[in-house]
Amino acid sequence: MSTPAKQSIIAVDDTPINLKLLTEILQAQGYKVRPVLSGRQALASAKEEAPDLILLDVNMPNMNGYETCERLKADTALRDIPVIFVSALNDTEDKINAFRRGGVDYVTKPFQSEELLARVKTHLTLRQVQRQLEKQSVHLREMVNAQVEEITGLQENLLRASLATLVALSKQAEARDEDTGKHIERTQVYCKMLAYESGKVPAFAGIINMQFVEDMYYASPMHDIGKVTIPDAILLKPGKLTPDEFEVMKTHAEKGAKTLETVQIQYPDNDFVSLGIDISRFHHEKWNGKGYPQGRAENDIPLSARIMSLADVYDALTSVRCYKKAFSHEDSCNIIAEERGVSFDPELVGIFLKSEADFNQVRRTLR
Ligand SMILES: [Fe+2]
Repeated sequence: MSTPAKQSIIAVDDTPINLKLLTEILQAQGYKVRPVLSGRQALASAKEEAPDLILLDVNMPNMNGYETCERLKADTALRDIPVIFVSALNDTEDKINAFRRGGVDYVTKPFQSEELLARVKTHLTLRQVQRQLEKQSVHLREMVNAQVEEITGLQENLLRASLATLVALSKQAEARDEDTGKHIERTQVYCKMLAYESGKVPAFAGIINMQFVEDMYYASPMHDIGKVTIPDAILLKPGKLTPDEFEVMKTHAEKGAKTLETVQIQYPDNDFVSLGIDISRFHHEKWNGKGYPQGRAENDIPLSARIMSLADVYDALTSVRCYKKAFSHEDSCNIIAEERGVSFDPELVGIFLKSEADFNQVRRTLR
């Protein structure tokens, strides 16, 4: 806390003799006093340099003490300066009025200098304690904010690191599985394009926003993450799988979702992780209910998985696999058109066929 010698006080009184007396009493105690003769001068002086306290006369021409005090309190930079009224008015009503206008104390003229000084000292001390507390609370708030930021950043980094690991794992699964190495990159773009175009159609406009489109792009690589659990003998088998082998192959959808659910425990409110789980679990469901793992139909299949399914099949059709040759873009489009309302959401097939030229372009670029 600063010593009284450094504390400044504006003394306001329109009677020069009173002002002189007030100034001398305060100066004798080491206070820095700025004597002024009117409310206007007091406001100007306070604005120029805020004092630690103001002693304010009530009865003054033009702008009385009450009005001066109200103006001080209306100014955010000055409102915290304590104001003590000094006045010859001695009615209870005058005193109440003074407190109502924002005064912290009221000294009646003629005053004993000891009383005046005691009150000045009390309010200066209070003001200093208050300032100290404000400083501490600002410091505390800054510390808390810094901690929260650090923790949030840490969680985001952890989430990204976890997901990067998962994407790496799914690439590993793909590398074992695919004859083409760009399946993930292409399906990412197909999913984003299909989601973006779907967002323009009334049926999906309420569900799809830009965040959904972005999340589709980043979550789609996780669709086949469950394939890491499938033995090479089945995953890499040239030719058709036996019914038993196919049953094992089918487990990749649920196993992938389960893996992602372990991530979700740490990030329960993360939409991106939820989307990854839906995509992984339901990307082999069919519109007619004859897919796997749950045999869900139509709108019971999450939209993200319906989009993923179409993108995944288009890529599979147009790519060479260990068990098949590649179909042309045109043949693939015809097959997808035939599966409208059978394997795929009819609305999505319509959107796909409208922008098939763009899909073909991406296919050629990312061959
Ligand atoms: Fe799959």
